Amino acid sequence: MFIFFKGLIFITFCISSSIAAEYTIKLTHVVSPNTPKGKGADFLAKRVSELTHGRVEVIVYPNSQLYGDGEEIKALKLGNVHIAMPSFSKFTSMVPEMQLFDLPFLFRDASHVHTVLDGEVGQIIKDKVTAKGFVAIDYWDAGFKHFSSSKKAILMPHDAQGQKLRIMKSHVLESQCNVMGAIPVILPFASVYSALRQGSVDGAENPLSNFYTKNFYEVQTDLTLSSHGYLGYLVIMSESFWRKFPTDLKPMILQAVKEATAYERKLVAQDDEETLEKLKMYAKTSDHFKIHTLSAEQKEIWQKTMEALYPQFYGVIGEDLIKKVQVIR
Ligand code: LMR
Repeated sequence: MFIFFKGLIFITFCISSSIAAEYTIKLTHVVSPNTPKGKGADFLAKRVSELTHGRVEVIVYPNSQLYGDGEEIKALKLGNVHIAMPSFSKFTSMVPEMQLFDLPFLFRDASHVHTVLDGEVGQIIKDKVTAKGFVAIDYWDAGFKHFSSSKKAILMPHDAQGQKLRIMKSHVLESQCNVMGAIPVILPFASVYSALRQGSVDGAENPLSNFYTKNFYEVQTDLTLSSHGYLGYLVIMSESFWRKFPTDLKPMILQAVKEATAYERKLVAQDDEETLEKLKMYAKTSDHFKIHTLSAEQKEIWQKTMEALYPQFYGVIGEDLIKKVQVIR
């Protein structure tokens, strides 16, 4: 009887909350709800509901539940989903200049990244995305990527020789693999764990949050804190959806995204430290998993090897854009 009543209350709640919302916004992403992006998306949903007094409901679909890599942007265009925050590499075929962010060792630290994203270069990139029929709102963080492997620890570029490394679809990331003598394998994020487990790829590059929340440490033996490249996101909406969205509600949505951006970026800094601690604890008790750091000499070799790639991309990304990033202090 009690269970029946509880069920009834739950159903009534669901019906009344769906009746209350006049508009539903579908938000899709490919990572775990426990990552900064996942938490940022949930925060955004909560703030939209609060700021619009329940008139707008944002439904969050995490973990590629609705759309995986490559599908997110198409689904937005078709209006099947309304907000997404794909990582920069996922924009490669639409806006090749976004490969700027894939260039290894281009960014010194998070503050360098933020100065670039929130300044002229970030705006230039947003304008290119806007020209493709999207509303480019804000940049979110995932953090710096690190190499992992189950074959051989990647401490120096040549350690990856002959290793199959999973990458996102990006010519810069392919060249990064090629210069290491590795074999690039493009896979959607949702397939990475099983590919690593089955050994169809040997290694990958991930920020700590994705590495930890997808349990990649179970199927990798060595993680090198290489911080060789940056992974970030652009929060986008389809232009046709936004054009038709009620004008009186637009400022609340934009305000919610603004707050979510600040929240998400702050989380990344905390989350990176906490996740590293958890991985270190795991490594201590594990008989298969080790974490490696790079010496200053090793870092210098990595940096020189990777910087040699930049001129190859002057045509695609724009030499001026790359140089603009390099001169920012
Ligand atoms: C990846 O495919 O590795 C990332 O883009 C996933 C994500 O959204 O963080």
